[in-house]
Amino acid sequence: MNTFIQEAKQSHYAIPQINVNGLIWIECILKAAEKTRSPIILGTTDKVIEFLGGYDFICKTIKNKVASMDITVPVIIHLDHGLTVEGCKQAVDAGYDSVMFDGSKLPIEENIAQTKEIVEYAHKHQVIVEGEVGAIGGNEDGVIGNVQYARLEDCIRLAEEANLDTLAPALGSVHGKYQGEPNLGFDEMQEIQDAINIPLVLHGASGISDEDLVKAIKLGHAKINFNTEINIAWSQQLRQTLTDNQEMFNPQQILTPSKAAIQETVESIIYKCLSNHQVE
Ligand code: 13P
Repeated sequence: MNTFIQEAKQSHYAIPQINVNGLIWIECILKAAEKTRSPIILGTTDKVIEFLGGYDFICKTIKNKVASMDITVPVIIHLDHGLTVEGCKQAVDAGYDSVMFDGSKLPIEENIAQTKEIVEYAHKHQVIVEGEVGAIGGNEDGVIGNVQYARLEDCIRLAEEANLDTLAPALGSVHGKYQGEPNLGFDEMQEIQDAINIPLVLHGASGISDEDLVKAIKLGHAKINFNTEINIAWSQQLRQTLTDNQEMFNPQQILTPSKAAIQETVESIIYKCLSNHQVE
C-alpha cells in the first residue's frame, strides 16, 4: 500500500479512495478500477462497520470478490475514520491493508499518543496508518462538524512523533454536500507539503472542482477520498428507475441501472485523479 501511495506522490497523481456502502459498491468499484487499470482504495467508514457486517466480514468479502472477479489491479482495503484504538487494531487483525485513526477531536498530545499506539501495532502487521489533524467539516454518516484548519506544527508533530505513513490535514474540505464554493487553503497546503515528507490525503473531495483537485495533487495529495458524489449518482438513478417503472419489483431490474451509475461515476473519478499520469 505504502509503495503505491509513494509512487503516486512522486509521479503527481492520486489513488482514489471510494467508500463502500454495500455489496454492490464493492463489485462496481472493482469493475471501474479494472476497466481503467488503476490501483484503487476501498474505504469503509468505522461508523458504518456494523451496517456493513463487521471488519472481518467486509475484509473477507472484498478479498473474495477480488479473487472471483479476477481483478488484476492493486486493491487496498482501508478503514476510514477509525473511531477507537481498539477498533483500528481489530481492523488490522481482520486483514485491512491500511487504517485511519481519526483523533482530530482529541487534544494534540492525546491524538499523537493514540495514533502512535496504532502505528506500532499496525506496522508489525505491514499495515499502514493515516492520521488526521484539524477538522474536516460537514456531515459524514451522521457525524456533523465545522471546518477547523490544521495547524502546521500539529501536522509536523503528528507525522513525526507517531511515525505516520499518510496525513489528512483538514484544510477547508467538507464531507457531504458543500454549502457554497469549497475554499481550500492552498497556502497552508504548500507549507505542510514543504515541511513533511509523507503523502497527504484529501477528504471530502465530492464537489471540489477538477482544477482544485489537480492543485491539491501537485501539493502532495496522493490519496483522495470520495463518497457523496457516488451516492448522489446511485440514488438519483435508483429514484428514476422506480419513478419510471411503478410496477417493477424485481430487485435485479431495479438495481442494475443504479450499479451502472456507481461504476460510471467511479470511472470518472479515477480519470480525474490520474489526470497527470498515463493510465496503462
Ligand atoms: P465526500 O463524501 O465529501 O466525498 O467525502 C468522502 C470522504 O472524505 C471519506 O472519508
